[in-house]
Amino acid sequence: MIILTAWIKACNLDQVKEGQLFGFTHNDKKILIANQKGKIHATDLICTHADADLSTGFLSDQGVRCPLHLSVFDLENGKPQNLPAEIPLKVYNVKIDQNEIYVEV
Ligand code: FES
Repeated sequence: MIILTAWIKACNLDQVKEGQLFGFTHNDKKILIANQKGKIHATDLICTHADADLSTGFLSDQGVRCPLHLSVFDLENGKPQNLPAEIPLKVYNVKIDQNEIYVEV
């Protein structure tokens, strides 16, 4: 089976400063952009435990903390570091071109 992917523009780099989160929707996909110590990550925007928007959560060295029940997700692999969430977030490839952030979906 061939899986087609595409690079989509998420936002400008200066819209997600260090320590900030940014959420956006592309068609049916909801994606989170996180700037963790200057490194840009992209994951699913909605927590895998329930319907919580992670862009309203908290970013730390450990990852993004869900605002609802406080699971923390590692941004490199999407894995939850604590209960109640048990399912990893999907993580997406990111590239930066001319100060704009692109995500491979
Ligand atoms: S909704 Fe995120 S941990 Fe429950």
